[in-house]
Amino acid sequence: MDDPVIELCRSGIPTLDDNILSGGLPRGTMILLTGSSGVGKTTLACQFLFNGATKFNENGLIFTLTESVTQMKRFMSQFAFYSSRAVEEKKVQFLDMRTIYKQMGMERDQYTVSDMNSLLRIIDEVITNYNIKRLVVDSITAMIFRMPDKEKIRDFLYRLGNIIFDHNVVALLTAEEQSGTRFYTEQGIEFICDGIIFLKEREVGNTLLRTLQVVKMRGMAHSRSEHEVILTSNGIELTERTF
Ligand SMILES: Nc1ncnc2c1ncn2[C@@H]1O[C@H](COP(=O)(O)OP(=O)(O)OP(=O)(O)O)[C@@H](O)[C@H]1O
Ligand SMILES: [Mg+2]
Repeated sequence: MDDPVIELCRSGIPTLDDNILSGGLPRGTMILLTGSSGVGKTTLACQFLFNGATKFNENGLIFTLTESVTQMKRFMSQFAFYSSRAVEEKKVQFLDMRTIYKQMGMERDQYTVSDMNSLLRIIDEVITNYNIKRLVVDSITAMIFRMPDKEKIRDFLYRLGNIIFDHNVVALLTAEEQSGTRFYTEQGIEFICDGIIFLKEREVGNTLLRTLQVVKMRGMAHSRSEHEVILTSNGIELTERTF
């Protein structure tokens, strides 16, 4: 029997796909998109979804936890990659987790195991029902915040990873960077994820640049250089400049 081939999913950001990665993000994987506040995590994640819909005819969905859907759409619609048509046609969907929690009666301080099972079931159903190929959780830090302990968080993430793998989806999970340590997240989410994309700020001369670095991508050779990021109304673009 032939070995299974890793299928790739183009982010639509040329330097990321072709210069840093070996053609795109591996399908069936969960990728941590981490970095400090305001560095561009939500922008990159939404750009990935809209590129999927408008350039590759793939359905995408974002679970929002820290911003309302209205607010996020308002911010994202400022970027050239945003497509109202993709939203109208449900090729890119925004789902507010707070609405889902309300519907599920999950507005409590700490989730039960049954709540966590329901959450995974909903994610699985949403992926199946809407034929989702690209998924974003913004942020995973907020999603796991009310889970009782580290073991249950790990178990939740492993099972989420299995759902992503079974559906051959690419999932970007945003997380706030834990600064001052060698870990990317407080809960060690990076060990369970298949890939890590790290957005950073770097002082060069008297300006603060944004950079992007792929720290890990299981299953492929990739550059680990920090590439300069240009954030404009075109969204995120990467230059050839590295550090
Ligand atoms: N048209 C634009 N041109 C240049 N920069 C922009 C533009 N629109 C937004 N930005 C920048 O994008 C930044 C916010 O990016 P984004 O919301 O993606 O960051 P984030 O990492 O998700 O932040 P948070 O951790 O707060 O969720 C703003 O600080 C702003 O500087
Ligand atoms: Mg954000």
